[in-house]
Amino acid sequence: MAKEKIAFVCSSCGYDSPKWIGKCPACGEWNTFVEQKLGKKSAVPMAERNVGISLVSITSIKTEDECRIDMGDGELNRVLGGGLVAGSMVLLGGEPGIGKSTLILQTMLRLRGMKVLYVSGEESARQLKLRADRLVREGDVLADVQVACEAMIEKVFSHVEDVCPDVVVIDSIQTMATETVESSPGSVSQIRECAAMILKFAKETNTPVFLIGHINKEGTIAGPKILEHMVDTVLQFEGDRHYMYRIVRAVKNRFGSTAELGIYEMMHDGLRPVENPSELLLSDVNEGDELSGVAVACSIEGARPLLIETQALVSTAAYGTPQRSATGFDIRRLNMLLAVLEKRVGFKLPHRDVYLNIAGGIRVTDPAIDLSVIAAVLSSNVDTGISRDICFAGEVGLSGEVRPVSRIVQRIAEADKLGFRKIIMPHANMGGVDTSKFGIKIVPVRKVEEAIRELFG
Ligand code: TYD
Ligand code: MG
Repeated sequence: MAKEKIAFVCSSCGYDSPKWIGKCPACGEWNTFVEQKLGKKSAVPMAERNVGISLVSITSIKTEDECRIDMGDGELNRVLGGGLVAGSMVLLGGEPGIGKSTLILQTMLRLRGMKVLYVSGEESARQLKLRADRLVREGDVLADVQVACEAMIEKVFSHVEDVCPDVVVIDSIQTMATETVESSPGSVSQIRECAAMILKFAKETNTPVFLIGHINKEGTIAGPKILEHMVDTVLQFEGDRHYMYRIVRAVKNRFGSTAELGIYEMMHDGLRPVENPSELLLSDVNEGDELSGVAVACSIEGARPLLIETQALVSTAAYGTPQRSATGFDIRRLNMLLAVLEKRVGFKLPHRDVYLNIAGGIRVTDPAIDLSVIAAVLSSNVDTGISRDICFAGEVGLSGEVRPVSRIVQRIAEADKLGFRKIIMPHANMGGVDTSKFGIKIVPVRKVEEAIRELFG
């Protein structure tokens, strides 16, 4: 009798091997290989996954029929690249409890005139109904949302046949399982197989599908990375559960930019899109009571300028090794900026603890916030507040030079609009700026030292 076939699959990236190995050659993770019995043959052979049977000349392909569904939510539309593309598969990842189900359900409920199939492998129909009741307001015209509490993918497809939905939601992909694979739900081969079947369905019927996926502690979609490669769009839902803000970021998008960002506020009746995020991210401080260690950065996330607070606390190190900690900012970048301060300003690093925090639980990648980080650190160090009507934009280089940043005019305009009276920015950016257009005072600087002199004399 033939022996049952066994393979070892990396639970991080899906790489398979006939033998157990300690370190995955594909993704470099350790101890990720798990034994898997090979069941019946894969339901969807690799070659079939790319749908497209006949040849077409690229010039004869019509593009005007790329239809996008308006999600009825400006933030979500933007991160999707202008609405949901028919036949696309969108993965929404995030930590448990962050609000994935809430966001998708509230959006689906408002897709007027559409038929939605909401498949939940996590919650009962009653739980879904209770959530839906919180999300709708009186007088809302609702979409036709059919709910299926189901975890077998074959049954899901039979519901699809009954409902003929315009949009399908799978909450979550980790709970789905197919009969064709023997391993338990949530395992790499189950996720891979189910996702492949759903993808095939989406492409063949041109039906858009939302997959909800959990993220593990390391911030990757739990289970296989392979899922991220299969889908058209990966949206990441982030934010601290203790803050009210939630951010949806496109980390991959075949149909739009990945620089986009959607910001929401969690309310008792669901997620409210935040149209003017700067106002939300700046703490309410009365004029005059300026705090030391706080500086406002004029950053750009996606297409939008965002004024955010950088907060620093510098204190005498209690123990031998000084502490360095950063929330929402790259710790290596912080260390680099501190080294620049040491060299340029004579900041005595070895005896100081430095904590840095970006307000609102936001993670910033825009290098233009360097200058504000430096200002916040120095402000805390000398225990002198920075006036609340000053903001900063500028990248800082290794020799303390303030380097130009992108889209400076947009940044200045936003700071001006929000009532800031002074912006300290790179001299190298002055070329394209018509200063007479703005009420805000523009202070160009070439070096970190100049910015410091401007602030603290
Ligand atoms: P949920 O969408 O269930 O998270 P996920 O699907 O990502 O696991 O949302 C979970 C949290 O959101 C839960 O702690 C309660 C909170 N919440 C609100 O604050 N307001 C609301 O209107 C809803 C529906 C949930
Ligand atoms: Mg959920």
